[in-house]
Amino acid sequence: MKDQAEGLRNLVQTQGDKGTRTTRIITVTSGKGGVGKSNFTLNFALSLQSLGYKVLVFDADIGLANIDVLMGVSSTYSLYHLLKKDKTIWEIIQKGSNDLEFIAGGSGFNDLLRLTEEELDYFAEQVMQLNGYVDFIIFDTGAGLSKETLKFILAAEEAIVVTTPEPTSITDAYAIIKMVNSMGHDVSFKLVINRVTDAREGKQTADKISLVAKQFLNIHIPTLGFVDDDPVVSKAVKRQIPFSIAFPYSTATKSIKTLTDNYIKGYRVIETPSTGVKSFLNKMLKLLK
Ligand SMILES: Nc1ncnc2c1ncn2[C@@H]1O[C@H](COP(=O)(O)OP(=O)(O)OP(=O)(O)O)[C@@H](O)[C@H]1O
Ligand SMILES: [Mg+2]
Repeated sequence: MKDQAEGLRNLVQTQGDKGTRTTRIITVTSGKGGVGKSNFTLNFALSLQSLGYKVLVFDADIGLANIDVLMGVSSTYSLYHLLKKDKTIWEIIQKGSNDLEFIAGGSGFNDLLRLTEEELDYFAEQVMQLNGYVDFIIFDTGAGLSKETLKFILAAEEAIVVTTPEPTSITDAYAIIKMVNSMGHDVSFKLVINRVTDAREGKQTADKISLVAKQFLNIHIPTLGFVDDDPVVSKAVKRQIPFSIAFPYSTATKSIKTLTDNYIKGYRVIETPSTGVKSFLNKMLKLLK
Protein backbone atom coordinates (compact mmCIF):
# COMPACT_ATOMS: atom_id res chain seq x y z
CA MET A 1 0.00 0.00 0.00
CA LYS A 2 1.20 3.44 -0.88
CA ASP A 3 2.32 5.53 2.04
CA GLN A 4 -0.55 7.96 2.40
CA ALA A 5 1.47 10.51 4.29
CA GLU A 6 4.50 10.66 2.03
CA GLY A 7 3.48 13.74 0.05
CA LEU A 8 2.62 15.45 3.25
CA ARG A 9 5.91 14.70 4.88
CA ASN A 10 7.71 16.21 1.92
CA LEU A 11 5.52 19.25 2.15
CA VAL A 12 6.07 19.69 5.87
CA GLN A 13 9.78 19.47 5.36
CA THR A 14 9.98 21.90 2.46
CA GLN A 15 7.58 24.59 3.64
CA GLY A 16 9.13 27.52 5.41
CA ASP A 17 7.72 29.41 8.35
CA LYS A 18 5.15 32.03 7.47
CA GLY A 19 5.71 34.25 10.48
CA THR A 20 8.31 35.27 12.95
CA ARG A 21 6.90 33.66 16.08
CA THR A 22 7.71 30.31 17.59
CA THR A 23 4.39 28.55 17.69
CA ARG A 24 3.69 26.38 20.67
CA ILE A 25 0.88 23.85 20.63
CA ILE A 26 -1.05 22.93 23.75
CA THR A 27 -3.86 20.41 24.10
CA VAL A 28 -6.35 20.91 26.92
CA THR A 29 -7.94 17.67 27.98
CA SER A 30 -9.58 15.80 30.86
CA GLY A 31 -10.69 12.29 31.60
CA LYS A 32 -14.13 13.15 32.87
CA GLY A 33 -16.35 15.52 30.91
CA GLY A 34 -17.78 18.78 32.17
CA VAL A 35 -14.85 19.63 34.45
CA GLY A 36 -14.31 23.07 32.90
CA LYS A 37 -11.93 22.53 29.95
CA SER A 38 -13.65 24.92 27.56
CA ASN A 39 -14.01 27.69 30.12
CA PHE A 40 -10.41 27.20 31.16
CA THR A 41 -9.14 27.16 27.56
CA LEU A 42 -10.99 30.30 26.63
CA ASN A 43 -10.04 32.35 29.67
CA PHE A 44 -6.46 31.09 29.68
CA ALA A 45 -6.21 32.09 26.00
CA LEU A 46 -7.61 35.55 26.76
CA SER A 47 -5.22 35.89 29.67
CA LEU A 48 -2.22 35.00 27.48
CA GLN A 49 -3.50 37.45 24.90
CA SER A 50 -3.71 40.23 27.48
CA LEU A 51 -0.02 39.66 28.22
CA GLY A 52 0.77 40.38 24.59
CA TYR A 53 0.90 36.86 23.16
CA LYS A 54 -0.94 35.98 19.98
CA VAL A 55 -3.22 33.01 20.54
CA LEU A 56 -5.42 30.82 18.38
CA VAL A 57 -8.02 28.57 19.99
CA PHE A 58 -8.84 25.46 18.01
CA ASP A 59 -12.12 23.95 19.13
CA ALA A 60 -11.79 20.20 18.95
CA ASP A 61 -14.89 19.64 21.05
CA ILE A 62 -17.94 18.09 19.49
CA GLY A 63 -19.90 18.41 22.72
CA LEU A 64 -22.36 21.10 23.71
CA ALA A 65 -20.42 23.91 25.31
CA ASN A 66 -18.38 25.08 22.37
CA ILE A 67 -15.92 27.93 22.33
CA ASP A 68 -18.08 30.05 20.01
CA VAL A 69 -21.13 29.56 22.25
CA LEU A 70 -19.14 30.63 25.32
CA MET A 71 -18.31 33.87 23.50
CA GLY A 72 -21.80 34.39 22.11
CA VAL A 73 -20.64 34.41 18.50
CA SER A 74 -22.00 32.23 15.77
CA SER A 75 -19.51 30.57 13.52
CA THR A 76 -20.08 30.47 9.81
CA TYR A 77 -17.22 28.16 8.96
CA SER A 78 -15.59 25.41 10.90
CA LEU A 79 -12.91 22.81 10.56
CA TYR A 80 -15.41 20.86 8.51
CA HIS A 81 -15.05 23.34 5.63
CA LEU A 82 -11.30 22.97 5.73
CA LEU A 83 -11.43 19.20 5.68
CA LYS A 84 -13.83 19.31 2.75
CA LYS A 85 -11.42 21.64 0.96
CA ASP A 86 -14.14 24.30 0.68
CA LYS A 87 -12.19 26.95 2.58
CA THR A 88 -8.63 27.94 3.38
CA ILE A 89 -7.30 28.05 6.92
CA TRP A 90 -7.54 31.85 6.87
CA GLU A 91 -11.21 31.69 5.94
CA ILE A 92 -12.14 29.46 8.86
CA ILE A 93 -10.33 31.55 11.49
CA GLN A 94 -12.89 33.76 13.21
CA LYS A 95 -12.74 36.46 15.83
CA GLY A 96 -14.49 36.29 19.17
CA SER A 97 -14.28 38.19 22.45
CA ASN A 98 -11.45 40.76 22.57
CA ASP A 99 -10.70 39.74 18.98
CA LEU A 100 -9.47 36.33 20.12
CA GLU A 101 -8.98 34.19 17.04
CA PHE A 102 -10.52 30.75 17.00
CA ILE A 103 -11.44 27.87 14.74
CA ALA A 104 -14.81 26.28 15.41
CA GLY A 105 -14.91 22.51 15.64
CA GLY A 106 -18.27 21.01 14.89
CA SER A 107 -18.32 17.53 13.51
CA GLY A 108 -15.06 17.94 11.61
CA PHE A 109 -12.85 16.08 14.03
CA ASN A 110 -14.68 12.82 13.49
CA ASP A 111 -13.70 13.06 9.85
CA LEU A 112 -9.98 13.44 10.48
CA LEU A 113 -9.46 9.71 10.52
CA ARG A 114 -11.34 9.15 7.30
CA LEU A 115 -9.67 11.67 5.03
CA THR A 116 -8.49 10.80 1.57
CA GLU A 117 -4.85 11.36 0.74
CA GLU A 118 -5.74 14.53 -1.11
CA GLU A 119 -7.80 15.93 1.75
CA LEU A 120 -5.09 15.09 4.24
CA ASP A 121 -2.54 16.86 2.05
CA TYR A 122 -4.70 19.93 1.94
CA PHE A 123 -5.33 19.86 5.69
CA ALA A 124 -1.61 19.70 6.52
CA GLU A 125 -0.65 22.28 3.93
CA GLN A 126 -3.20 24.69 5.37
CA VAL A 127 -2.40 24.06 9.04
CA MET A 128 1.29 24.39 8.21
CA GLN A 129 0.68 28.02 7.36
CA LEU A 130 -0.06 28.73 11.00
CA ASN A 131 3.57 28.10 11.91
CA GLY A 132 4.95 31.40 13.12
CA TYR A 133 1.56 33.11 12.86
CA VAL A 134 0.72 32.80 16.56
CA ASP A 135 2.62 32.17 19.78
CA PHE A 136 0.12 29.59 20.99
CA ILE A 137 -2.36 27.25 19.39
CA ILE A 138 -4.59 25.79 22.07
CA PHE A 139 -6.76 22.78 21.30
CA ASP A 140 -9.82 22.38 23.47
CA THR A 141 -10.78 18.72 23.30
CA GLY A 142 -14.08 17.04 24.05
CA ALA A 143 -15.03 14.87 26.99
CA GLY A 144 -13.50 11.43 27.21
CA LEU A 145 -10.53 9.98 25.45
CA SER A 146 -11.56 9.54 21.82
CA LYS A 147 -9.15 8.39 19.13
CA GLU A 148 -9.00 11.91 17.74
CA THR A 149 -8.30 13.50 21.11
CA LEU A 150 -5.55 10.99 21.77
CA LYS A 151 -3.87 11.92 18.48
CA PHE A 152 -3.94 15.59 19.37
CA ILE A 153 -2.43 14.91 22.79
CA LEU A 154 0.30 12.76 21.28
CA ALA A 155 1.12 15.20 18.50
CA ALA A 156 1.00 18.37 20.58
CA GLU A 157 3.72 17.45 23.04
CA GLU A 158 2.24 19.61 25.75
CA ALA A 159 -1.03 18.68 27.41
CA ILE A 160 -2.87 20.48 30.17
CA VAL A 161 -5.03 18.02 32.07
CA VAL A 162 -7.96 19.64 33.82
CA THR A 163 -9.50 17.95 36.82
CA THR A 164 -11.72 18.91 39.71
CA PRO A 165 -11.13 17.68 43.29
CA GLU A 166 -13.82 15.01 42.82
CA PRO A 167 -12.41 11.47 43.03
CA THR A 168 -14.00 10.39 39.72
CA SER A 169 -12.38 13.31 37.93
CA ILE A 170 -9.01 12.59 39.54
CA THR A 171 -9.11 8.90 38.58
CA ASP A 172 -10.00 9.73 34.99
CA ALA A 173 -7.29 12.38 34.73
CA TYR A 174 -4.72 9.87 35.89
CA ALA A 175 -6.08 7.28 33.43
CA ILE A 176 -5.32 9.63 30.50
CA ILE A 177 -1.79 10.30 31.72
CA LYS A 178 -1.23 6.58 32.19
CA MET A 179 -2.56 5.70 28.75
CA VAL A 180 -0.42 8.25 26.91
CA ASN A 181 2.59 7.21 28.94
CA SER A 182 2.01 3.53 28.12
CA MET A 183 2.14 4.41 24.42
CA GLY A 184 5.72 5.50 24.87
CA HIS A 185 5.15 9.10 23.89
CA ASP A 186 6.99 11.91 25.51
CA VAL A 187 4.18 14.34 26.27
CA SER A 188 4.73 17.09 28.78
CA PHE A 189 1.72 17.04 31.10
CA LYS A 190 0.65 19.83 33.39
CA LEU A 191 -2.22 19.80 35.85
CA VAL A 192 -4.91 22.37 36.35
CA ILE A 193 -7.20 21.79 39.31
CA ASN A 194 -10.51 23.49 38.63
CA ARG A 195 -13.34 24.32 41.02
CA VAL A 196 -11.31 24.24 44.22
CA THR A 197 -12.66 25.68 47.49
CA ASP A 198 -9.19 26.80 48.54
CA ALA A 199 -5.52 26.38 47.68
CA ARG A 200 -5.21 23.56 50.19
CA GLU A 201 -7.80 21.48 48.38
CA GLY A 202 -6.08 22.27 45.10
CA LYS A 203 -2.73 21.13 46.41
CA GLN A 204 -4.15 17.96 47.92
CA THR A 205 -5.77 17.07 44.61
CA ALA A 206 -2.64 17.77 42.61
CA ASP A 207 -0.53 15.77 45.07
CA LYS A 208 -2.76 12.73 44.68
CA ILE A 209 -2.15 12.63 40.94
CA SER A 210 1.49 13.56 40.93
CA LEU A 211 2.38 11.10 43.68
CA VAL A 212 0.74 8.20 41.87
CA ALA A 213 2.33 9.27 38.56
CA LYS A 214 5.72 9.40 40.26
CA GLN A 215 5.28 6.08 42.00
CA PHE A 216 3.79 4.01 39.19
CA LEU A 217 4.88 5.74 36.00
CA ASN A 218 8.02 7.43 37.27
CA ILE A 219 7.05 10.74 35.68
CA HIS A 220 6.92 14.19 37.16
CA ILE A 221 3.62 16.02 36.58
CA PRO A 222 3.89 19.67 37.55
CA THR A 223 0.88 21.69 38.58
CA LEU A 224 0.13 24.83 36.65
CA GLY A 225 -2.36 26.09 39.18
CA PHE A 226 -5.81 26.03 40.70
CA VAL A 227 -8.99 27.78 39.64
CA ASP A 228 -11.50 28.60 42.35
CA ASP A 229 -15.00 27.30 42.27
CA ASP A 230 -16.81 30.51 41.56
CA PRO A 231 -20.50 31.14 40.75
CA VAL A 232 -19.48 33.81 38.21
CA VAL A 233 -18.41 31.05 35.81
CA SER A 234 -21.92 29.74 35.43
CA LYS A 235 -23.31 33.29 35.21
CA ALA A 236 -20.83 34.15 32.47
CA VAL A 237 -21.66 30.96 30.55
CA LYS A 238 -25.35 31.93 30.63
CA ARG A 239 -24.52 35.46 29.47
CA GLN A 240 -22.22 34.03 26.79
CA ILE A 241 -19.33 36.24 27.82
CA PRO A 242 -16.02 34.73 28.98
CA PHE A 243 -15.90 35.03 32.79
CA SER A 244 -12.59 36.90 32.79
CA ILE A 245 -14.21 39.63 30.68
CA ALA A 246 -17.62 39.68 32.39
CA PHE A 247 -16.14 39.42 35.90
CA PRO A 248 -12.58 40.75 35.76
CA TYR A 249 -12.24 41.05 39.55
CA SER A 250 -13.70 37.67 40.46
CA THR A 251 -11.68 35.00 42.24
CA ALA A 252 -11.94 32.76 39.15
CA THR A 253 -10.35 35.48 37.00
CA LYS A 254 -7.64 36.09 39.59
CA SER A 255 -6.81 32.38 39.63
CA ILE A 256 -6.53 32.32 35.84
CA LYS A 257 -4.18 35.29 35.89
CA THR A 258 -1.92 33.74 38.52
CA LEU A 259 -1.93 30.47 36.62
CA THR A 260 -1.04 32.22 33.35
CA ASP A 261 1.86 33.99 35.06
CA ASN A 262 3.06 30.60 36.31
CA TYR A 263 2.79 29.17 32.85
CA ILE A 264 4.78 31.98 31.29
CA LYS A 265 7.51 31.73 33.93
CA GLY A 266 7.90 28.02 33.15
CA TYR A 267 7.65 28.69 29.43
CA ARG A 268 10.71 30.89 29.47
CA VAL A 269 12.88 28.30 31.14
CA ILE A 270 11.37 25.36 29.32
CA GLU A 271 13.84 22.49 28.99
CA THR A 272 12.62 21.25 25.62
CA PRO A 273 12.43 24.08 23.10
CA SER A 274 9.23 24.62 21.20
CA THR A 275 9.03 22.53 18.09
CA GLY A 276 6.02 24.25 16.60
CA VAL A 277 3.54 23.32 13.94
CA LYS A 278 6.05 21.41 11.85
CA SER A 279 6.72 18.89 14.57
CA PHE A 280 3.02 18.70 15.36
CA LEU A 281 2.14 17.84 11.78
CA ASN A 282 4.98 15.36 11.45
CA LYS A 283 3.74 13.50 14.51
CA MET A 284 0.13 13.75 13.43
CA LEU A 285 0.96 12.24 10.06
CA LYS A 286 2.72 9.29 11.62
CA LEU A 287 -0.31 8.74 13.84
CA LEU A 288 -2.78 8.96 10.94
CA LYS A 289 -0.88 6.45 8.83
N1 LIG B 1 -14.19 27.37 38.10
C1 LIG B 1 -15.50 27.09 38.04
N2 LIG B 1 -16.36 27.49 39.02
C2 LIG B 1 -17.66 27.20 38.98
N3 LIG B 1 -18.24 26.52 37.98
C3 LIG B 1 -17.47 26.10 36.97
C4 LIG B 1 -16.06 26.35 36.94
N4 LIG B 1 -15.56 25.82 35.79
C5 LIG B 1 -16.60 25.25 35.16
N5 LIG B 1 -17.75 25.41 35.84
C6 LIG B 1 -19.10 24.91 35.49
O1 LIG B 1 -18.96 23.74 34.73
C7 LIG B 1 -19.67 23.88 33.50
C8 LIG B 1 -18.95 23.09 32.41
O2 LIG B 1 -17.76 23.78 32.04
P1 LIG B 1 -17.10 23.53 30.61
O3 LIG B 1 -18.11 23.55 29.54
O4 LIG B 1 -15.95 24.47 30.51
O5 LIG B 1 -16.57 22.04 30.83
P2 LIG B 1 -15.89 21.07 29.74
O6 LIG B 1 -14.88 20.26 30.49
O7 LIG B 1 -15.42 21.85 28.59
O8 LIG B 1 -17.12 20.16 29.33
P3 LIG B 1 -17.14 19.08 28.13
O9 LIG B 1 -16.38 17.90 28.65
O10 LIG B 1 -18.59 18.80 27.92
O11 LIG B 1 -16.47 19.72 26.96
C9 LIG B 1 -19.74 25.37 33.26
O12 LIG B 1 -20.83 25.70 32.46
C10 LIG B 1 -19.87 25.92 34.67
O13 LIG B 1 -21.22 25.91 35.07
MG1 LIG C 1 -15.83 21.60 26.52
